[in-house]
Amino acid sequence: MPQTWLLVLCELLIFLYTFAKARMLRVPLEVQRKPASQLSQSFLATQSLQLMLDNRDNVEYYGRIAMGTPPQLFRVIFDTGSANTWLPSSNCPDSNIACQQHSRYKAHKSKSYVKNGRNFSLAYGNGHVSGYLSQDTLRIADVVVPDLIFGETLSHHQATFIPTSFDGIVGLGFRQIAWKNSTPFLELFCQQHLVKRCLFSVYLRRMAGELYGGEITFGGIDHSRYKGALDYVPLSKVGYWQFVMSGVSVGNKKIDGRVNAILDTGTSLVLMPRRIFEQLQQAIGATIKNKTYIVSCHWDYLQDVQFHIGDRKYALTAADYVVSLETANETICASGFVPIESDFWVLGDIFLTRVYSVYDVEAERIGFAEAVQDED
Ligand SMILES: *[C@@H]1O[C@H](CO)[C@@H](O)[C@H](O)[C@H]1NC(C)=O
Ligand SMILES: *[C@@H]1O[C@H](CO)[C@@H](O)[C@H](O)[C@H]1NC(C)=O
Ligand SMILES: *[C@@H]1O[C@H](CO)[C@@H](O)[C@H](O)[C@H]1NC(C)=O
Repeated sequence: MPQTWLLVLCELLIFLYTFAKARMLRVPLEVQRKPASQLSQSFLATQSLQLMLDNRDNVEYYGRIAMGTPPQLFRVIFDTGSANTWLPSSNCPDSNIACQQHSRYKAHKSKSYVKNGRNFSLAYGNGHVSGYLSQDTLRIADVVVPDLIFGETLSHHQATFIPTSFDGIVGLGFRQIAWKNSTPFLELFCQQHLVKRCLFSVYLRRMAGELYGGEITFGGIDHSRYKGALDYVPLSKVGYWQFVMSGVSVGNKKIDGRVNAILDTGTSLVLMPRRIFEQLQQAIGATIKNKTYIVSCHWDYLQDVQFHIGDRKYALTAADYVVSLETANETICASGFVPIESDFWVLGDIFLTRVYSVYDVEAERIGFAEAVQDED
């Protein structure tokens, strides 16, 4: 493999990692594909709201929302790994390309805008956003969520946010990790009593290109999207969607024991404690080139990784976890496991495409089941 490609691979991994840390997950509200009247009907009938998501290259899963009155449209990631909501501001400077290239919220054009004005700043791995807080009405399809305090961003880390298809983020975490004196989206949504149960479910599909990427269902569970019964695990701490995994293994080899994990729709890959990173890479069959673990793109030989959760094991196969980079002359591959300096796992999209997940706010638990895949 030419060394230039090794370099490109390193950059790819760094990019994906940044992306992951920036918690870019998206659940799109596919307003365009289903007429609002239809959404409204199914909503009233079932007391749940199903939103379609778009998938950009298995890196971003995003949906659509509207903010303000009359509605201004945005593409957002519905992020289980955070609790705050932000959108680019029309007041961001011309010099901020990342902001200028996305849809921007215009407070002066909204009749339901309420000034807040407090400054905020959010740090992600290699990037950050900052600006000030505002309050307005958020709409998902035709469901109205009034009085949401959200961030209007003036500054975006350029390298992280220029390439994204989404404009902003809607956090689906709990109040404990949200800005002080602000009620996060999920709580406001449930306060409307528009859905029977305060929960939501996530179904993601892994495939190439900009395509239908799955859906998020507020207030309900789509039984056609998983096999067998849901297995529920209690939250180990309320804030993130955090629980205790009983272990991780590759074949008969134990990689990790009881350990905390969070489900994060805003992360593309799987982040794991550095202390066991090499063990995992070697166990699956990766090899090291210039300090970077890579795998062959003919990855039939690679081992499955088993996640022990509740009473079950969920296996990620190489087809799930290998990420590839197409170049003019060849394709370079690596596993989608990324080391972090923390003692917990962040299970992102490559895990969530295998597992149907139910986020039960009232019961403070997460339901897991094997997702139905396209080939099933
Ligand atoms: C190894 O990768 C680094 C960047 O991570 C690069 O600067 C260096 O030139 C590479 N070395 C070789 C021998 O490819
Ligand atoms: C808020 O941020 C702006 C710059 O974006 C700064 O000029 C202002 O002083 C800040 N206000 C407070 C209260 O920190
Ligand atoms: C790609 O392959 C062509 C010929 O096969 C070669 O001339 C070119 O330098 C290669 N490009 C890179 C970036 O390696």
